[in-house]
Amino acid sequence: MERILESELMEEEGQVCAYAEADFEDAHSRFIALFQDMVGHKGINGYVLDLGCGYGDIAMRFARAYPRCIVHGIDGSEAMIHYGKGILREAHDIQDRVELIHGRLPEAVLPRIKYDIIISNSLLHHLPNPQVLYQVIQRYTISGAPVFIMDLKRPKTIDEARVLVETHVANEPEVLKRDFYNSLLAAFEEREVLEQLKEAKLNNLSVKVASDRHIVICGYIP
Ligand SMILES: C[S@@+](CC[C@H](N)C(=O)[O-])C[C@H]1O[C@@H](n2cnc3c(N)ncnc32)[C@H](O)[C@@H]1O
Repeated sequence: MERILESELMEEEGQVCAYAEADFEDAHSRFIALFQDMVGHKGINGYVLDLGCGYGDIAMRFARAYPRCIVHGIDGSEAMIHYGKGILREAHDIQDRVELIHGRLPEAVLPRIKYDIIISNSLLHHLPNPQVLYQVIQRYTISGAPVFIMDLKRPKTIDEARVLVETHVANEPEVLKRDFYNSLLAAFEEREVLEQLKEAKLNNLSVKVASDRHIVICGYIP
């Protein structure tokens, strides 16, 4: 099945609310657990960049898991960042270590020239040009920085995409089901990601299938 692009930024108010109210406990706690499997817990500190952070749920979870890290999350949707800032105002335990920034990649200006760690969840499939993600990684990482990206993988057929929607978001609002279905169709296959990494000269990063719908791209910047 060919890739079908979906809208790049998530700016509709209904879409942002449905996304923010959805139950991402499993997927987002798994993101942190898989990152911990890769790098462990000890000695993790410094500045972390979360690309396409949405309303910042993973940025905030990361800050709680790693108290010696400062996390900058960036997203091109003003509505997502606005929603996340509202949550952050109440999150007294981490609000001095998490900053949510409105800006579209790759042209957005970030507060730092380099970051110690880069993470990203579910941004890649939104990008018309996937090389944008890798260019940003190349530009903002220091040598040796861990990179951890999780995204959807495109099913082989429309029927498979429909089954995944019924399996994982059957009880969610229609707008979320629609977005998940469109996201599956916009996602990449494992072999396409491998080709992208080769083109970006990041082919030391590895690509793993992490579930029936997820792939993980991870490793260290040379
Ligand atoms: C599916 S959401 C994932 C949000 C968050 N990472 C999470 O896991 O909850 C994808 C996000 O990427 C953002 N996005 C898409 N293209 C972008 C770009 N070029 N620059 C910055 N953000 C972008 C969208 O606005 C959206 O909030």
